[in-house]
Amino acid sequence: MSNYAILISGRGSNMQALIDARLPGRCAAVISNRPDAAGLAWAAQRGVPTAVVDHKGFASREAFDTALARAIEQSGAELIFLAGFMRVLTEPFVQRYTGRLVNIHPSLLPAFPGLHTHEAALQSGVRVHGCTVHFVTPTLDCGPIIVQAAVPVLPGDSAAALAARVLAQEHIIYPQAARGILEGRCRLKAGRVVWAGDATPATLALRVPARE
Ligand code: GAR
Repeated sequence: MSNYAILISGRGSNMQALIDARLPGRCAAVISNRPDAAGLAWAAQRGVPTAVVDHKGFASREAFDTALARAIEQSGAELIFLAGFMRVLTEPFVQRYTGRLVNIHPSLLPAFPGLHTHEAALQSGVRVHGCTVHFVTPTLDCGPIIVQAAVPVLPGDSAAALAARVLAQEHIIYPQAARGILEGRCRLKAGRVVWAGDATPATLALRVPARE
């Protein structure tokens, strides 16, 4: 797999981290479901092809996902990185891209799926929070985990402060996971993530910044 597409809905800082990482392969397209996504301009300025598939123009999730799949096919991308893409994808779409559809989520899954993860972490009183890169399966935020990074929850943290601490780690582990997949070292096999060669180095599976 050498061509990839990045799907965004807004700011696109994870998209920037992926593109800045100079991954093997080519970013064939940055696709947004929102025409006003800030990340589109950033990508266009760097000569990356961009496209918009505006979800508001479709009567159903199925129709939107069909148009999205068409845009991905047209770009020539074989692998898809969801980077702050805030649409729930239908099961046929997810099945079509099994093992080729990757997401980053701002929590240590399976804790805190869905939205408002930093608020939920603060509310629950956990001492450790973080982010997860995973393959996408039909159940939301439940797919096989590729890499996670943990950060401390500090006394007095606001959701914004915690989000910023987590986001810095997202920008490290998403390119790390993407590189593993693009280089063929990481893949999905029988519903589990398999890293080629020796056992996955601990630093690849879990990043703990305080130890570094
Ligand atoms: C990131 O924190 C990402 O993990 C999260 O949205 C943010 C997008 O920021 N994704 C989700 O919540 C997906 N359910 P970005 O546009 O700057 O990459």
